[in-house]
Amino acid sequence: MTTIATAKAHTNIALIKYWGKKVPALNIPTTSSLSMTLDKFYTTTSAEFSDEASDTLILNATNTDSTRVSKFLDSLRDYYGDFPKVRVRSENHVPTAAGLASSASSFSALTGAMFQLLELPKDEREMSRAARRGSGSASRSIFGNFALWNMGNDDKSSYAESFYDEDINLSMIVAEISSSQKKMSSTLGMQLAQTAPTYSAWVEKSAQQLEEMKQAIITHDIEKIGLIAQDNALGMHEQNRQCTQPFDYFTEQTRAVIDFTERCYRSGLLAFVTIDAGPNVKIITDKTTEKELLAKFRREFPEISFEVAHAGGGLKYV
Ligand code: PMV
Repeated sequence: MTTIATAKAHTNIALIKYWGKKVPALNIPTTSSLSMTLDKFYTTTSAEFSDEASDTLILNATNTDSTRVSKFLDSLRDYYGDFPKVRVRSENHVPTAAGLASSASSFSALTGAMFQLLELPKDEREMSRAARRGSGSASRSIFGNFALWNMGNDDKSSYAESFYDEDINLSMIVAEISSSQKKMSSTLGMQLAQTAPTYSAWVEKSAQQLEEMKQAIITHDIEKIGLIAQDNALGMHEQNRQCTQPFDYFTEQTRAVIDFTERCYRSGLLAFVTIDAGPNVKIITDKTTEKELLAKFRREFPEISFEVAHAGGGLKYV
């Protein structure tokens, strides 16, 4: 019998975003999404049965509120049968303090560890469904390189799968813009964004962008990937500004980095932005351009830390 199981999953950045829920309780999204899994940032999680009164979470060696983890474990108990309380130990190699989302790698790693602990068949599609219930974007982190999350319309039909497994030379420069701004959770952010009068138009456009993005990845067309990803992401953030209780994840520095990226693009360099539920900007470029671009950004923004990431692998057992 397995007594302790450990899995490692990497974070992913969506090129076509998930920003809205059709069925909030199950994280069934309003759009399909497509992401690149990153090599740099990951979470390692181990799970073991415990005789404590509740599920517990030790995150980066610190006892942490386990409400969300316990809710996720309860969903596994509902789907796969009851099991004892679980002690979860997680090491996050994602700069969470800088607001980079770690829920994708965290719930993906936890799903992997739990499937092993429960001795469930490691069917990737089923693991993706399970991870999705913890955090939507986690459904994609089961897979390496590019992952496509088919939105579906119920628990069975909503899962991610590997989209393309060749290296296409894409790079992401992550600008870690720390922010004192209070973070709006992605769940609440999406709920509000869905009240924007322009929301259904964004959803419709996203379906079209997804098809164009797939084509651009297959043809290794970085410029096209960047242009579509940027348009999709800026459109997502526009919904936040158009909704009934407008809000904005961007800070002044976010805008400055976006403007500088555009200037770099106009000067002939491959440089595009994508932004998630926070102030950090990920600059999309290719491996040939990344060094020059990185030097330019470091010179322009000495107070911001930048890290280069490439495509990374899927869920692994350690
Ligand atoms: O998985 P969640 O609930 O953290 O939502 C993530 C949403 C975005 O990161 C903004 C977009 C995406 O597709 O990853």
